[in-house]
Amino acid sequence: MLEVIRKRRSIRSYLADDVEEEKLKGILKAAMFSPSSRGGRAWEFIVVRNKATKSALSEATPYAFFVKDAPAAIVVCYDIDSGRRFKEDASICAEHIHLEAVNQGLGSCFVQVADAEGSHGSAEEYVKGLLGVPDRCRVQCIMPIGYPAEELPEHSDSEFDEAKIHCEKF
Ligand SMILES: Cc1cc2nc3c(=O)[nH]c(=O)nc-3n(C[C@H](O)[C@H](O)[C@H](O)COP(=O)(O)O)c2cc1C
Repeated sequence: MLEVIRKRRSIRSYLADDVEEEKLKGILKAAMFSPSSRGGRAWEFIVVRNKATKSALSEATPYAFFVKDAPAAIVVCYDIDSGRRFKEDASICAEHIHLEAVNQGLGSCFVQVADAEGSHGSAEEYVKGLLGVPDRCRVQCIMPIGYPAEELPEHSDSEFDEAKIHCEKF
């Protein structure tokens, strides 16, 4: 497990090769194996492969520009009518997505949508309008998925900082 965690980097450049349906299904399974507040499992995922839609998603914020280059993107949403603590739940889902993507030889990156702004105004409202997300749902982030076209160094033990660990009291 630590091996995959070490390899996980935010990948923002992707090869044109398609992501296999089976791999995507495995990644969505990992998302749905996430813990959730009171076991609410209120997540909803939108898989986007359409080029024009991905291009439009890239305009959600200034930090989403590379979404258009990924063969697939998973938009992580949350139904606030049937769940709670949605930001935490959705973010954990996103991390499961990211880690299983790495496990499958793919790359991803957490692209913030909630509470973010772009040239179209609220990124969340923009994405909701674009994808027809119902009012009862919130959008947390976009997880582009693709084979990495960049190689970033793995996380290393030099990032392990003893000073951040407090024993019994801060
Ligand atoms: C809550 C959150 C929001 C993020 N939003 C963005 C984003 O909108 N665009 C982006 O390119 N990266 C985003 N990132 C990725 C971070 O920039 C990245 O995780 C950080 O620089 C550490 O690099 P690493 O993931 O390669 O270890 C986000 C990460 C988190 C956890």
